[in-house]
Amino acid sequence: GTVYLNGDFVDADQARISPMDRGFLLGDGVYEVIPVFNGVPFRLDEHLQRLARSLREVRLNDPHDGAGWRRLCQELVARNGGGHLSLYLQITRGVGATRDHGFPEPPVAPTVFMTTSPLPVPVPAADQPARTAGVAAITLDDIRWGRCDIKSVSLLANLLLRQQALDAGAAEAILIRQGQVTEGAASNVFLVRDGAIHTPPLSHHLLGGITRDLVIELCQEHGLPVRERPLQAAELADADEIWLSSSTRDVLPVTRLDGQPVGDGSPGDTWKTLANHYIGFKR
Ligand code: PDD
Repeated sequence: GTVYLNGDFVDADQARISPMDRGFLLGDGVYEVIPVFNGVPFRLDEHLQRLARSLREVRLNDPHDGAGWRRLCQELVARNGGGHLSLYLQITRGVGATRDHGFPEPPVAPTVFMTTSPLPVPVPAADQPARTAGVAAITLDDIRWGRCDIKSVSLLANLLLRQQALDAGAAEAILIRQGQVTEGAASNVFLVRDGAIHTPPLSHHLLGGITRDLVIELCQEHGLPVRERPLQAAELADADEIWLSSSTRDVLPVTRLDGQPVGDGSPGDTWKTLANHYIGFKR
């Protein structure tokens, strides 16, 4: 497919990045993952706002304004044939003269890279077996740093946690920091108890998911009681339902946690209601 690199649209095979790039050497960069449905980036403005925030928080100058990013996204999607895609954006602090923890002085141009891949869960997909059957998750100690609200490409801890879950036959790790649920290794977490929906409040310990915001909005719009509040890890064990949300997996029911069934072990009624609203909204 076609990728975007520093001003040019080129074939993926032709794209070249220096090994001195700080993204490669130091994980010094931020990223976004934007779902594209029928050729249209979903919640693009929200993703671009979060990207601008990530850039600010790591002291990188935003190389484009909103209109510029929107144009690049639309062109890359068009060049890749539209349809259902996952659109990836990465900005690193660029190519330093030497490997140095300090920022390059004078500053160098950031590296801007964008690519697309097939979206693993095309919409509408509530009838997909993996979704209707639910997935398994395990709880793990949240070993990540103190700024998980920044969408940083330094993902080593997230990768180790996700792989530990995969090795255990689970699809995701649900992370626990000091007795409280933060989020999944690459998703946000919701819990349903007695018909009410709960998710941890925004903090430096979790990413403000665009899908998380959408779930909260849909609950409010359709009169499903939803609350942002700290979730104790112990509450997971007697939840009626647990959900994961992310741009690439929508809202996914967790039906087994740490080897035990969640609720009756099948996707719950509240999830089914929400998933229908979600599909209706995206179509
Ligand atoms: N990850 N929390 C973490 C740690 C994440 O990596 C993600 C998404 C989310 C959900 O955010 P959103 O709803 O905006 O996708 C929460 C993306 C998909 C990834 O890294 O591939």
